[in-house]
Amino acid sequence: MPSKLPHQISSFDEYREVYQKSVTDPESFWAAEADTFVWRKPWDRVLSWNFTDPEVKWFSGGQLNITENCLDRHLAERGEQTAILYEPNEPDGKVVKLTYRELHAQVCQVGNALRELGVGKGDRVCFYMPMVPELAVSVLACARIGAIHSVVFAGFSAQALADRVNDADCKVIICSDHNRRGRKNIPVKEVVDEALAIGCPSVETVLVHRNTGEDISWDPSYDQWYHEAVERQDANCPAEVMDAEDVLFILYTSGSTGKPKGVVHTCGGYMLYTAYTFRNVFQYSPGDVYWCTADIGWITGHSYILYGPLLCGATTMMFEGVPTYPDAGRFWQVCEKHRVNQFYTAPTALRALMARGNEFVEGHDLSALKVIGSVGEPINEEAWEWYHEKVGKGKVPIVDTWWQTETGGIMISGLGGLSPQKATFAGYPLPGIQMALVDKNTGEELTGNPESGLLCVKYPWPGMLRTTWGDHERCQKTYFSTVPGMYFTGDGARRDENGMYRIVGRVDDVINVSGHRMGTAEVENAIDEHPLVVETAVVGYPHDIKGQGIYAYVILAPGEHDHERLREEIIETVRQEIGPIAKPDKIQFVEELPKTRSGKIMRRILRKVASGETDGLGDTSTLLNPEVVTSVTAGRL
Ligand code: WTA
Repeated sequence: MPSKLPHQISSFDEYREVYQKSVTDPESFWAAEADTFVWRKPWDRVLSWNFTDPEVKWFSGGQLNITENCLDRHLAERGEQTAILYEPNEPDGKVVKLTYRELHAQVCQVGNALRELGVGKGDRVCFYMPMVPELAVSVLACARIGAIHSVVFAGFSAQALADRVNDADCKVIICSDHNRRGRKNIPVKEVVDEALAIGCPSVETVLVHRNTGEDISWDPSYDQWYHEAVERQDANCPAEVMDAEDVLFILYTSGSTGKPKGVVHTCGGYMLYTAYTFRNVFQYSPGDVYWCTADIGWITGHSYILYGPLLCGATTMMFEGVPTYPDAGRFWQVCEKHRVNQFYTAPTALRALMARGNEFVEGHDLSALKVIGSVGEPINEEAWEWYHEKVGKGKVPIVDTWWQTETGGIMISGLGGLSPQKATFAGYPLPGIQMALVDKNTGEELTGNPESGLLCVKYPWPGMLRTTWGDHERCQKTYFSTVPGMYFTGDGARRDENGMYRIVGRVDDVINVSGHRMGTAEVENAIDEHPLVVETAVVGYPHDIKGQGIYAYVILAPGEHDHERLREEIIETVRQEIGPIAKPDKIQFVEELPKTRSGKIMRRILRKVASGETDGLGDTSTLLNPEVVTSVTAGRL
């Protein structure tokens, strides 16, 4: 099998040219890129679509397996090159290097083990694992046999895990025994046991990876050791032939209403899009060491630790630990140790490290860095400047990459070293991406510059979501109904006089806490589970390190209460319902919430109070209970 790679743009002028071509004739543009991959059967039609239902199909009739493109086709040329470079939690722990050949063999063995467990094409497999090589291997093994992976971030609670397992009717859960993260020991298997105790009727097997070797409880009716199931398997596993539009994976993400939804990505388009964007944004050259610090439990890990880099034959690093262990210099120590060439992280990590002082970064040799990236939330000017000066030594280009779980890959970003850069601006759309700003009152597209409005996409791209698992109507309502005929991102943005985009942030009821998406409704529902809570309203407020913090206004049942104790109990309730990432930073007990005459909570006012903007509360005369604004403001934390 040949190993061609997507075209790599090499100057900003070329970017302009390619962009023009890509929007004038999108089908030829993407077809030419798709041609660089290995297909079992060529496609009949490049694209068919409408944004009403919505229905989007790329490369229909085409057949492939994404793992043949990630692994098999690289074997001849770079079989002995490191594919996955694993840096453990402990600085003196064992570094693991898996070559493309070794990774291929391990993926095949796990694929065979899963087949032996009765997992086949279209079955769902849930992952609840720390950042260990076995996670990468077995996610790819699912793709190998056509099973659909659903990776759940291993910081979610048992309840949140059970909800996700049940929504997708997963047949198997793959987990670890325990996990060491920084100084913490996380009992991973115990959380899975709790989820099963809550009830996960579809689960037949729990495959347990031995990570720390500590004690766990064991139920032989469903528990099996990963190593026992895998080591006896053959290292040859014929890849399942998939249609381009077959589901590759589900990934749950928060929206403004209800429970998290399972965003669905398909095989062909996602493959093409993650590879193309990886190669161009990071300007990856063969032999480079690339490191994305995300967790595979989030989309960034799926697209830019696993699929994008492996599709391009890159060396991709996986890091088990945290940025502050053993101290706030760990990222830079690891960059130095492995001579990292491309480094990709989140603003929240930069802000946390910046706060610890420059001495942690200054002593390290970061001269191998060629491109440094940011993702997950708007990067504030101070963090951008710090990244640029202290990490990039004033000369390494920064790519501020805007995208979402739903977009599959990066949508707006500079191309490392080629594009003009401007602090806090993500920049220009990538080739093939037709962005639009829309006036929120009239619904009209704003075509001039500068402008600001709702950030939308006018035309399909290969990596976009196809549906939300089990509920297509929800996909239609959430993304395709706000602005008819366009995909609505949920973000607001500004375009400067040169057409560069700056993302302002969410305009819906989603908050972004340390780069993690959280629905306010989801946190409210969790808090409401506490027996003494009558009603809750949750909003985001500016937080120095996390970007946004969670501010909860809570009405308690009548009676005398110990507020300090209740705060702790409410936090514990949220921890159990969702996980520690959703813990409110501030809980203010109130008598009433400001409401409109139709009974809707006036979040606009609550957001302002939480942010300390109590002078500009605007018109409160339309409220049912304008007098509560005074007491809510007075009680602000
Ligand atoms: C926000 C993460 C500003 C945005 C890849 C988006 C950003 C949400 C940026 C998606 C950025 C992501 N600048 N904001 N560079 N990148 N966002 O699904 O609000 O976890 O809608 O995907 O993060 O978060 P998600």
